[in-house]
Amino acid sequence: MDPLAELDQLQTEALSAISHAQSADQLEQERVRWLGRKSRIIEMMKLIPTLPPESRGPFGQRANQFKKAVEQSLAEQKSGLAQTPTKSHLDVTLPGQSFHSGTLHPITQTLGTILSLFTSMGFEVADGPEMEFEYYNFDGLNIPKDHPSRESFDTFFVDYASPNPKQGRMILRSHTSPVQVRVLEKHEPPLRIVVPGRVYRRDALDPGHSFMFHQVEGLMVDKKTRFSDLKGILDYFLRQLFGPETKTRFRPHYFPFTEPSAEIDIASHLKGKSSFAQKEWLEIMGCGMVHPNVLQAAGYDPKEYQGFAFGMGVERITMLRHGIQDIRSFFESDVRFLEQF
Ligand code: PHE
Repeated sequence: MDPLAELDQLQTEALSAISHAQSADQLEQERVRWLGRKSRIIEMMKLIPTLPPESRGPFGQRANQFKKAVEQSLAEQKSGLAQTPTKSHLDVTLPGQSFHSGTLHPITQTLGTILSLFTSMGFEVADGPEMEFEYYNFDGLNIPKDHPSRESFDTFFVDYASPNPKQGRMILRSHTSPVQVRVLEKHEPPLRIVVPGRVYRRDALDPGHSFMFHQVEGLMVDKKTRFSDLKGILDYFLRQLFGPETKTRFRPHYFPFTEPSAEIDIASHLKGKSSFAQKEWLEIMGCGMVHPNVLQAAGYDPKEYQGFAFGMGVERITMLRHGIQDIRSFFESDVRFLEQF
C-alpha cells in the first residue's frame, strides 16, 4: 500500500477510536496505541531511509501532520470528558433544586370555607350572570325606577338593552342579590342556596375599595322560616368562621328587598389584627326577611312562603381573618403576597 494512503487510513481510524474513549484511562490507551513506541506510525517512520529520496520529504511532512492531528484529538476528547459530570462529581453539599408549587388564592380559600359551612347546613351552591339586567339587580328586588337606593349602588352600564322592556338595560351587577330573583323564578321553595360571585361598583381604588369584589349571597325560603332561623344560622356561621368566642350583634338597618333588615356586627379577639379592627364592632354582613314584594314579583304568596336572605363581602372577611390591610393586594398578583396564605 502506498505509505501516504496508509497514513490517511490510519488517521481516520485513530480519530474515530479517540472520539469513543470514555475515560482518562481509555484515552491513555489510545495515545499509546496510535503514538507509542510500538505504534504503526513509529514503525513507518523507521522505514523512511528505505524510501526513494524524492518521497522521503512528503512522507515525513505527512507523518508529522498525522501526529499533530492525533494529539489535538486526544486533547479535545480530554477536555470534553472533564466537562461531562459523572457519578464521582455528585456534590451532596450543594443546595437542592427548589421547586415552586402554587397555592389557592386567599379569596378562593375564604370562599371555600364559607361555602362548605353552608353546604354542611343543607344549602346548595347557585350562580348567576355578572352582566345582568336592571330588572334583576333592582326592580325584582323591590327597588323601583326612581328609588334613591339605585343611586347608592354606583352602577356600571353596558351598552345594551334587553328587547324585553321589563328587563331593561344591561349592567354589571352591583351585588349578588339578583340571583335571589333568578332562583325564585326557576325553583319552587323550599330552597336554601348560597351564591358566590363577583360584583362591580364604580368605586375609586383605595385600601378599602375596589371596583370589583366578591360577595356570597344566601337565601332560604320555606313555609315557616322565621327571623330566629336567620339569627341562629348566621350566628353559628360567624362563630365557625371567626372562632367560638366571637360575639355577634344584629343592628337594625334598611335594605329595600328585606323587611325587617339588619346589619350584623362582630366584636372581637380579632381587634388590632387589621385596620378595620380599630373599632369595637365591625360590620360584617347584611341580612333580613325576604320582602313580601320580592316573593310576589317572583310569583309566590307571601302568606304561604317566608324566607330570609343575607349578603357578605368576601374580601373584607379575608382581610379580617388574616389581618390584611389593603384590598388592592388581592388583585396585584404579587407572589410574595399570595404565597403567605
Ligand atoms: N345586597 C346587599 C348589599 O350588597 C346585601 C344584602 C343581601 C342585604 C341580602 C340583605 C339581604 O349590600
